[in-house]
Amino acid sequence: MKPAKGDRAGKGTRSTAPAQGQIRINRFLSMCGITSRRKAEELVLLGKVEINHAVVRDLATRVDPVRDRVFVGGTQALPVEGLLYLVLNKPKDSITTLSDERGRTTVMSMVRSRQRVYPVGRLDRNTTGVLLLTNDGNFAHRLMHPKFNVPKSYKVSCDRALARADLALLRGGIALPDGRTAPAEVELIPQGRGKEIGITIHEGRNRQVRRMFETLGYEVLKLDRVAYGPVTKVGLARGGTRSLTRSEIRSLKEMAGYTEEELLSGRSPGHIPR
Ligand code: URA
Repeated sequence: MKPAKGDRAGKGTRSTAPAQGQIRINRFLSMCGITSRRKAEELVLLGKVEINHAVVRDLATRVDPVRDRVFVGGTQALPVEGLLYLVLNKPKDSITTLSDERGRTTVMSMVRSRQRVYPVGRLDRNTTGVLLLTNDGNFAHRLMHPKFNVPKSYKVSCDRALARADLALLRGGIALPDGRTAPAEVELIPQGRGKEIGITIHEGRNRQVRRMFETLGYEVLKLDRVAYGPVTKVGLARGGTRSLTRSEIRSLKEMAGYTEEELLSGRSPGHIPR
């Protein structure tokens, strides 16, 4: 950013007054796909953000996206060219991390994109199906936030037929070590001989579906995520990706609490309302 009158470039003293083309530091970091605006503020307060080689700690600091050089933890933050929203049909035996020191197949190796995208949450190594990826850090953060309860649907294949009483227990909530699960929609899949179950949960805890079934004494033989909100993998080959449609993005954003104004402006909201 061009220093305002009285600023001493390189001394960390920056103008916080609005000037044409300048944006707040937290918004800039969110545009770089680094994180949500709220988390970006935490990075600033922790002294992890430098502008033109001076650490900034003032949340009101403004950035000129063209002239200023912003670094987070020593790495330059660059605005993403455009926001990308993808779905991958994750195959079995692939892991949801950006890289793996043990050389295992990562979901990132299946994504052909010039720009870096990140998985929205994670699926277990042997879980297949719908995995969203994006470079819109704020969108990802909101989708994963428990407040918004975006529904996720799974097909579960178990080692034996589900007892009627257990169907009711799964629907009502299962006591897990990290707390009781929220009510879920659970149905037997026709022609599945009682061993194939459709379940829609509104949370995203670690290994949640497997743990719910294991708690009741069932072995989960296969777990496939068939939908994340409105997004399915219908027509998508295993290991294949596609861009989300406008209507899928809009619908996910609505589920993640974006206001009508935010949807219309295309802006990412800066905070999660209470
Ligand atoms: N629940 C699980 O148990 N595993 C997953 O991968 C996703 C949801």
